[in-house]
Amino acid sequence: MEEEKPRGITRKTLLKAALIGAPVPLIAGKVAHASLARDVVAAGGTTLSPTPYNCDPGDAPTIAQTEGPYFKPGSPQRSTIPGSGTPLVVSGFVFGINCQPLANVLLDWWQADTNGNYDNVTYNQRGHFYTDANGAYKLTTIVPGLYPGRTRHLHVKLQAPNRPILTTQLYFPGEPRNSTDTIYDPRLLMTVSGSNPKQGSYDFVLNVAGPTPSRTPTPTPTRSNTPSPSPSTGTTTWAAWKNYNAGDTVLYSGSTYRCLQSHTALPGWEPPNVPSLWQRVG
Ligand SMILES: [Fe+2]
Repeated sequence: MEEEKPRGITRKTLLKAALIGAPVPLIAGKVAHASLARDVVAAGGTTLSPTPYNCDPGDAPTIAQTEGPYFKPGSPQRSTIPGSGTPLVVSGFVFGINCQPLANVLLDWWQADTNGNYDNVTYNQRGHFYTDANGAYKLTTIVPGLYPGRTRHLHVKLQAPNRPILTTQLYFPGEPRNSTDTIYDPRLLMTVSGSNPKQGSYDFVLNVAGPTPSRTPTPTPTRSNTPSPSPSTGTTTWAAWKNYNAGDTVLYSGSTYRCLQSHTALPGWEPPNVPSLWQRVG
């Protein structure tokens, strides 16, 4: 890592080093080779790749992205999501806007299986858990398969206790479809290394100031099925890129459909094509 340019002292760097017990050499008041924090861990026997340190106080929070049509509330609480395919471990931290690690943050994940299919009947490839006292998380799953129109991605909702939900997606570097997927955003690229398992790393920044409260007396943060409400009144003609809430009705090709799950409509997700989202009512 001699060639890797130190990113300078960041509060996140120091926090991360402290949290994982790795020494961070201080030279003339500066952190030398900040990325060594994870390299040191690797030397201890755990293969972890350097992680981008992109949280400095005042930095923009992690961007939101569309929920898509396949979110399903009520996922089982588990950090290991079983499935056939290439094993994938995604880990990192969740920070507040001032780079303080946030404990008890809900992370609710959903993804396609290795063949690019979502399960909207049961809860395959879905699960939720919480950051630990250090703001750390680790998801064990499989590499999601590709499906038409999208590059490879994971979906996740994050919510600090009693705070707003952040809905976003994570991406894999080096994917050919990253350059053609209109939803893809390089700010959401994981650092990925290894092959079996693959190991992804991403640190989230929520627009939350101050430490998060204990989960008690509200052990389960409120999870809404309408993270981005955009009230619709009356029956309108279905349109791509519009936010729909459960219960909304739309007209499409002369028929009326009722929205079953809140989502942002995308091209190709016309009501007849996505029965998990729209029910024909007339
Ligand atoms: Fe998706």
